[in-house]
This record gives sequence, C-alpha cells and structure tokens, in this order.
Amino acid sequence: MSKISISPTNDYCPQTLFLYGTYDDEGKADFGLFCWFSYIWDGELGVMACIGGDKLTRENIHKRKVFSANLVTENLLPLADYLGNTNGHDPEKMTPGIETEEGRVLPVPVLTASPVNYELEVKQFIPLKDGEVMLCAIRNVLQDDLLGGSKDGSTEKLAAIAPIRTTCNRYFSWSGANLGGWGEPMAQWKGKVE
Ligand SMILES: Cc1cc2nc3c(=O)[nH]c(=O)nc-3n(C[C@H](O)[C@H](O)[C@H](O)COP(=O)(O)O)c2cc1C
Repeated sequence: MSKISISPTNDYCPQTLFLYGTYDDEGKADFGLFCWFSYIWDGELGVMACIGGDKLTRENIHKRKVFSANLVTENLLPLADYLGNTNGHDPEKMTPGIETEEGRVLPVPVLTASPVNYELEVKQFIPLKDGEVMLCAIRNVLQDDLLGGSKDGSTEKLAAIAPIRTTCNRYFSWSGANLGGWGEPMAQWKGKVE
C-alpha cells in the first residue's frame, strides 16, 4: 500500500454524538451537541470530553462540575442538530417541547427522549490554548427500560435505537446512510421529538 501525507484530519473517524445537559445560574436547563467524547480507564470506566472555545455548556460545567451526556439517536437528530447550531446564550434556545428530567444521582438535566444518559462529574480540567479536556467519573448510567439489563441481543438493540455517527461535517445513520450536513436536519425540528 503506498501512502501520502495529508493535513491533520478526523475525516475517516466517525464519532458518536451526545447532547450535554447543564444547568445555568437560574437553574434553567441547556443542551449542546458534542462529538469529542470518548472513554478512559482509571481503575473504573470514565469519560473524556473536549470542548473548544467559549460556550454556555463550558461555563455551566465550570461552575457546577457536573453534566449529563445523552446519546443522540436517529429520532433525536433534528433536535440535536438544532441544539448544536444554536447558541446557548440565545434566551429562545430551549423552546418548549424539549422534555427533560432530573438525574437520579447528580443535579443534572437529562433528556427524556434519549435512551442512554450518563451522569458525569468532572474530576480534572485540562486547559488547552483555546479548548479544554475534561476527565470525568461516571456517577450513573440511565438506560431505557426497553433495552433491558443484559448485554444479550446488543446488536439488535443498537440497530433499534440507531445511534448517529458524524464525520466530514455530515451525519450518518447506524447503517451508514447519509442523513445530511451539519445544520440541515434542524429544518425538520418542529418543537417535539417525533
Ligand atoms: C455535529 C456537531 C458536533 C459538535 N461537537 C462539538 C464538540 O465536540 N466540542 C465542542 O466544543 N463543540 C461541538 N459542537 C458545537 C456545539 O454544539 C455548539 O457550540 C453549541 O452551541 C453548544 O451549545 P451551548 O451554546 O448551549 O453551550 C458541535 C456541533 C455540531 C453541529
């Protein structure tokens, strides 16, 4: 195989998407869309997340050191795209119809329509030039009852909940279909999850 050198890219590394839920100073829930999310091991499973630039999600996490990470599925894509392309400082961002509930272990807002939710506590902030990496302990994982407790049939369960993957500024279905560019699916957001 002959190779060529190219500029830094993650074009060939599709990533799973999560909506991070935080509370602001008034106790109002905010959600933003994030893909720089992965796992770490330190005697137990943890999470690493990178946030670039200033945004409400980052400010809220700094103040409270906790947030939720809610798996984005095909059903949630129009809402997720909207939340990833709307600034949290816009007072209209969290329109009615975005159903949330309280975490079971941490004081974090959880997105009801997402079938898998992590309740995360930041143990370490690693500031970078512009962004920041956060190393987190997983304090709780909530899972839709319908997914059951055991790992049996996880292939079918993944196909049923259909997590979204993203690369090249586009969204892809679990089966690999192109679901549109960033900023496109939000046109179908009608104020509720279908
Ligand atoms: C597909 C997609 C993935 C994103 N992933 C990240 C990410 O991993 N890190 C980040 O800092 N911003 C990411 N963003 C941008 C944030 O979602 C965006 O800044 C959003 O406004 C944050 O919400 P907030 O303003 O309520 O904090 C992503 C946006 C999109 C559309």
